[in-house]
Amino acid sequence: MKTSLAIPVQKTSKSRLPEIDFSNLVFGKTISDHMFVADYKNGEWTDLRIEPYGVLDLHPANAALHYGQSIFEGMKAYKNEKGEILVFRGDANAQRMNESAARMCMPEIPEEIFMEGLLQLLDLDRNWVPSGKGSSLYIRPFMFATDNYIGVKPSETYKFIIFTCPVGAYYSKPVNVKVETNFTRATEGGTGAAKTAGNYAASLYPALQAQKAGYDQLLWTDGKSHSKIEESGTMNVMFDINGTLITAPTHTGTILKGITRDSVIRLAKDWGMPLEERFLTVAELQEALEKGTLREAFGTGTAATIAHIAKINVNGMDYILPENPSDAFSTKVLNELDGIKYGEIADTRGWIVKI
Ligand code: COI
Repeated sequence: MKTSLAIPVQKTSKSRLPEIDFSNLVFGKTISDHMFVADYKNGEWTDLRIEPYGVLDLHPANAALHYGQSIFEGMKAYKNEKGEILVFRGDANAQRMNESAARMCMPEIPEEIFMEGLLQLLDLDRNWVPSGKGSSLYIRPFMFATDNYIGVKPSETYKFIIFTCPVGAYYSKPVNVKVETNFTRATEGGTGAAKTAGNYAASLYPALQAQKAGYDQLLWTDGKSHSKIEESGTMNVMFDINGTLITAPTHTGTILKGITRDSVIRLAKDWGMPLEERFLTVAELQEALEKGTLREAFGTGTAATIAHIAKINVNGMDYILPENPSDAFSTKVLNELDGIKYGEIADTRGWIVKI
C-alpha cells in the first residue's frame, strides 16, 4: 500500500485472532488487535502511531468525562472475493467528524491523518476483516478531550483513536419502533446534528422505557411540537408512502447527516424514485398506516445498514406493517449498496477505497 505519512507501528506480541469465532460475532464486542492513535497539543496533531489495542491512562479530572467533549464516527470495511479490503465512503466520515468537532469546540482532524491512519490500520489488521455477505469490519474513529481540569471551558488537548471490530448484523430481524412524543432527542440550536456522546446518553432513558414495552427503538419527533418525525436512535428513517420516498431534511441541525441516508438518496435520485426530503408529520404517518398507503418504512445507518421496520406504535396504537413486498425499494437499495460495498457492482460514484 502506498502511504504518504510515516506512522510508526508497534505490533502486538500475540494476536487475539485465533481466539475469535467469526461465525458468532456479537456487534461491538470483538475488537481487533491494533488501534491508531494521535494526540493534539500546542495546536497540532502529533505522535501519530499504531499500537496494540489496549487500556488508556485517564486522569479523574479528564474534561471529556465531566463535560462531554467527545465525538465519534461509525464506518465499515468489507472484503471482496479476491481478499481486497473495500472501505465505504471514508472521506464522508472524515468530513462529518470535522463538522461534529466544530460544533463541540474541538480541533479538526486533517482528512489525510484520518484516512492514512485508517488505511494503515486496516492494512495491518486485514485478517480481521470478515468475508461473506452480512459481515464486515465496523470502524470506530473517535476524539475526546484530554485536559485534566474541572473548570468549564474547551479542552486544549485531545486524543484521536481509531479501532475496529469484526461484526455481523446490528439488527438481525425487522425492528419495532415507537413514536416518541414526550422526551426530546434534539432541538434547533442544539447538538442534534453532531455525532457526540451526549446525544446518545440523553436518548438512553427514553429508549430503555420503550424497550421495556417491547420496542427496539424510538422514532424521535421534533423537540418543539413533537408533531414531526425526525430520526431513530441508531439510524435515520425513510417511509415509502404510495411510491414516494419521504425522509426528514437535515437543515434544522437536529438530525444526523447519515452517510447511508445520503447514499440511499443518491440511488433513489439516480433511479428516478419520487423523493421528498421533508418532515413527515405524526398525523400523516398515522393516516398512512390507517389507510394502508405506507408501503414500507426502514432505517438507514452504518451499523443498522437498511433495517426494515415491522411495527410502529403511534399515539399508543400498534400498527403492523405489511411483510416486505418483493419489489420493495428498501430491498433493491440494500442489494445495490451491498453489491457496491462487497465489490460485486461497479463503484461508479467514487464511494470505495480499496486496500
Ligand atoms: C453507526 O451506525 O455507525 C452508529 O454510530 C450508530 C450506533 C448506534 C452504533
